[in-house]
Amino acid sequence: MTKVRVLFVCLGNICRSPLARALFQKHLVSAGLENGYTSDSAGTSGYHIGESADPRTIKSALQHGLKFQHFARQFHPADFEDFDHIVVMDQSNYRDVHALATAPHHSLKIRMMREFDPVDRGAEVPDPWFGGEEGFEEVYAILHRSTAGLLTELQKKM
Ligand code: 4NP
Repeated sequence: MTKVRVLFVCLGNICRSPLARALFQKHLVSAGLENGYTSDSAGTSGYHIGESADPRTIKSALQHGLKFQHFARQFHPADFEDFDHIVVMDQSNYRDVHALATAPHHSLKIRMMREFDPVDRGAEVPDPWFGGEEGFEEVYAILHRSTAGLLTELQKKM
């Protein structure tokens, strides 16, 4: 069976996209669908290459019983061929990824994470980096809903 390949993208690849990936995996396992998908995450910047997730992201996830491993990497144009869906967190990520597309079918793969959020559909996933811990909690809730919505949509297509 061909696996559906999903890449989550944010700016630093240490806060939002690693958590999105971990939550997507959690929903896959809950639904018994982990064999049908592969996923990864990347940052548009190279600021944090090789780092683990931000300690505030790790803490917020652990408070919800979610533990995951992560090594940050930068988005690369080859990702347009290696993934079927590229899910970005905000408009700035969208612009940065879109600027690297070299074919129309690349651009068509890029989607906003909150297109799949039943609450405030189409909004951005706010960047929690400069804020306090409550921002990380908000991001957790947004990504929990949005990744569940994404999986539901992908399953409808199969
Ligand atoms: P992320 O958050 O894009 O959700 O990983 C950020 C992490 C680091 C920086 C900005 C956003 N930074 O400027 O280093």
